[in-house]
Amino acid sequence: MVFQDEIIKWYKDNKRDLPWRHTNDAYTIWLSEIILQQTRVDQGLPYFNRFLAHYPTVADFAAATEQQILKLWQGLGYYSRGRNMLFTAKIVMEMHNGIFPKRYDELIKLKGVGDYTAAAIASFSSNEAKAVVDGNVSRVLGRYFGVEKAINSSEGKKEVNALAQSLIEDQPASVYNQAIMEFGALHCKPKQPLCNVCSLQQSCYAFTHKKVAVLPLKEKK
Ligand code: ADE
Ligand code: SF4
Repeated sequence: MVFQDEIIKWYKDNKRDLPWRHTNDAYTIWLSEIILQQTRVDQGLPYFNRFLAHYPTVADFAAATEQQILKLWQGLGYYSRGRNMLFTAKIVMEMHNGIFPKRYDELIKLKGVGDYTAAAIASFSSNEAKAVVDGNVSRVLGRYFGVEKAINSSEGKKEVNALAQSLIEDQPASVYNQAIMEFGALHCKPKQPLCNVCSLQQSCYAFTHKKVAVLPLKEKK
């Protein structure tokens, strides 16, 4: 089986049941992804549920006051995220007829939405083939494919981004993106990855070259 098929199979057997995985609504996915920036899943979950209960649609969100948003945001930190969300919800009402964009090219123009978040929303909501590259994905690809450049260098990032994008072409983008992120979060973890029970072991560069402990390389900043 090729890498992508193994990752998707692993995901189907091992994924967590998370609420934002049951929707293709771009607004709901945006909400979850902004909350999960710099926030652990178990910490972000109750916030996601509260926000969605208060503001089921982007129109509801856009009609809130900054005070109301920041009150619900309390405890998450990085309050600019909450402020940017209100700004963006209003833009969606005014410039997109209240329909949250699903295409990467539109999403990337929104305040608070960077490369990762635009790829996440586009792929999860409409299967657009844009690769998500976060810390988990970089580590998995760095180990499995043996990226020998530092993954936090600009050259290394370029290599990982290009590799990630090449792998998602012709894949079911939503499932594949979720799958590789989840594989990095639960299985090919930063410390003590589960190599002994890994179905990708035989074809994994880091494992076969005894480099699991050193890959991915990072340069000191
Ligand atoms: N962290 C950021 N986005 C996530 C997602 N969609 N699922 C699980 N963890 C995440
Ligand atoms: Fe990650 Fe280890 Fe599996 Fe390689 S063998 S993909 S390093 S868990």
